[in-house]
Amino acid sequence: MLLEVRDLHVEFRTRDGVAKAVNGVNYTVDAGETLAVLGESGSGKSVTAQAVMGILDIPPGKIAGGEILFKGQDLLKLKENERRKLRGSGMAMIFQDALSALNPVLSVGDQLGEMFTVHRGLSRKDARAKAVELMDRVRIPAARERVRQYPHQFSGGMRQRIMIAMALALEPDLIIADEPTTALDVTVQAQVMDLLAELQREYNMGLILITHDLGVVADVADKIAVMYAGRIVETAPVHDIYKAPAHPYTRGLLESIPRLDQKGQELYAIKGLPPNLMRIPPGCAFNPRCPLARDVCRTDEPPLYEVSKTRRSACHFWEEAIRG
Ligand SMILES: Nc1ncnc2c1ncn2[C@@H]1O[C@H](COP(=O)(O)OP(=O)(O)O)[C@@H](O)[C@H]1O
Ligand SMILES: [Mg+2]
Repeated sequence: MLLEVRDLHVEFRTRDGVAKAVNGVNYTVDAGETLAVLGESGSGKSVTAQAVMGILDIPPGKIAGGEILFKGQDLLKLKENERRKLRGSGMAMIFQDALSALNPVLSVGDQLGEMFTVHRGLSRKDARAKAVELMDRVRIPAARERVRQYPHQFSGGMRQRIMIAMALALEPDLIIADEPTTALDVTVQAQVMDLLAELQREYNMGLILITHDLGVVADVADKIAVMYAGRIVETAPVHDIYKAPAHPYTRGLLESIPRLDQKGQELYAIKGLPPNLMRIPPGCAFNPRCPLARDVCRTDEPPLYEVSKTRRSACHFWEEAIRG
């Protein structure tokens, strides 16, 4: 197994109290596999990813428990310099906002080239050639000329391609893409997502794709983990989730995807808001918003019930949920 997150807990200590952002997350990603992590804003998707990458804001953040095994080695036991070495060559991250992730005063060629001069000891000239090659790989037209340009001279979609190129540069085993297409137009979103999926297959990388939009990842993900209030509430192969979600929250997310055949109709939205992470309700954290909730849901936290060999749901009434 390439990556195994085991019972991860992350908290943030703030003036107002302790926010329990990640509360016992488990997931795995194999080489060549794509895991989509889905959930509303604030559900702990990015914080989990930051813990894996070793870029968590500590303090105020704190890893309160768990293990993060990368090729069998617990990353939480590594020294900071060992983790730094892993970033880029072992695992790399793609962010939503390329404009703030890239350096505005360095040409994209210099930024891409730096990966090779700093990490691989290449000469400037060889690094520049590598930069052009990478820009070709992510299909940026006229790479040879554009390698001298600065991030702001590229469109949003092209900048996102540059970030993908940066992530690929050292051929990592794992890529984490955190809402990589959220800031883009719908048509550009699909192109960037297709490119990412294609490169992932080619390099046989593990990919974690974080999104709040199931519509975007349906075609590229193998399996999905749905997060709510810092917990995974459903995990399943992507097709199962589409056919019949086994958690009322997943169903709500699915029903809020815009569909072409429903143009003009008002979009369904899950009623209510996610809980305050300093006061997660007892029982099932989703119960105040859940159409299936009854007494037991307000007192007993549901375990991840085994729905099938490949599928789990943290709903006491998953059998009812799956029937729809
Ligand atoms: N730097 C931070 N300081 C304090 N709290 C934070 C910080 N980063 C994240 N959190 C808390 O963790 C929660 C989950 O954040 P995040 O993982 O970014 O959500 P998302 O699922 O939208 O990616 C936030 O709602 C917030 O309460
Ligand atoms: Mg996020």
